[in-house]
Amino acid sequence: MFTYQKRMVWFNQARFGMFIHWGLYSLLGRGEWTMLMERIPPDEYAKLADQSGMKYMVLTTRHHDGFCLYDSKISDFTSVKTAAQRDFVAEYVKSCRKAGMKVGLYYSLADWRFPGYFNLKKYPDSFKAMVKQLHGQVRELMTNYGKIDYLFYDGEWIPGVPTARTMEDGKVMASESSKLWRSKELNRMVRSLQPGIIINNRSGLDEDMDTPEQTVTASKAGRAWESCMTMGDFCGWGYIKNNPNFKTTTQLIQYLVTAAGGAGNYLLNIGPKPDGTIREEERSRLKEIGKWMKVNGESIYDSEKAPGVPAPGWSGGMLGTITTKGNNLYWHILRWPGETASMPGIKNKVLSAVILATGQKVKIEQDKDGRLFLTGLPQEPPDRNNTVIKLKLDGKPKFIDYAGIPL
Ligand code: GLC
Repeated sequence: MFTYQKRMVWFNQARFGMFIHWGLYSLLGRGEWTMLMERIPPDEYAKLADQSGMKYMVLTTRHHDGFCLYDSKISDFTSVKTAAQRDFVAEYVKSCRKAGMKVGLYYSLADWRFPGYFNLKKYPDSFKAMVKQLHGQVRELMTNYGKIDYLFYDGEWIPGVPTARTMEDGKVMASESSKLWRSKELNRMVRSLQPGIIINNRSGLDEDMDTPEQTVTASKAGRAWESCMTMGDFCGWGYIKNNPNFKTTTQLIQYLVTAAGGAGNYLLNIGPKPDGTIREEERSRLKEIGKWMKVNGESIYDSEKAPGVPAPGWSGGMLGTITTKGNNLYWHILRWPGETASMPGIKNKVLSAVILATGQKVKIEQDKDGRLFLTGLPQEPPDRNNTVIKLKLDGKPKFIDYAGIPL
């Protein structure tokens, strides 16, 4: 059967995913929260539907605005029943499969069109109708598009209802809001329709994995996690026309490496334009990261948590960080030192060292205090984004414990 270990295999190998926020809000170009932030009434917002034409990926099948990018039989607010007349989820799932990508679907529990969402006490029937819609639409998504690999819930919070998790039945952690969404029942249904699926932790239940947002923060060992992050400003996942703070390719690679170093995944977001094309700022970054991954991918895919490394990004000395896999240790040198690079703390014998970007074999010296020196390196960094040196060790990496002081 699909045990936790078994269903997480592809996810832990993948390490790098693409998040796609695309919906009616893309037409406005001010981000996916525009409907609420500008208090656009549902009827006025709905007019937008008459304009639009759009290694794992996660697509917003329905965001907080309630607009479905697929053929929902239980709502009229869908891309099939309005101007576009297309089932984008069907097209997306097909393209993912063709490209050999695992298929992830994002679905927001919250729907801002229901007054009951904002005031459960005053509009209990509206709230009930929203929950009914949730169960019905998730059933549609899990039934009508073949095998779905990953379900990314969002919008668990309900105004005025605590989201803190407490122990339920002595086993699962559940929030007050999860009871109102009837999440346990919901996820039972999902798993019966999609036995191998991975479910994230945003239905108010812990389920399979944690989803830190805009930060790379590792969960406790043994628990899967995935950091999702925007390329531009902190605020705004959907298309924002004037988005002044795009992170550099180097920064994005650094986040990816940090996640992989802590055995976590990195879900990097794009917000396609109203017509579904990907803006230049995002395209060029994706291309550059892709180029880097072609050469250095083995240091990322299927990476493991290095024993004794306290937190992701906290190892590799002053120069960078490390990822590990089997008997290999990948040293990601972000701040290139020139001729000699030194790292303390490796207990193993280092058998060989190769710069992945150039294939250059590097001279190794190890002293009895556990200091490693790589010598004869080029003066300038072979890869300005991040030069990776692959170290083959005589066994699984072991590190000297410097009394809690990170390497
Ligand atoms: C937040 C936001 C939402 C975004 C999501 C991505 O929950 O409300 O707009 O889709 O993060 O993880």
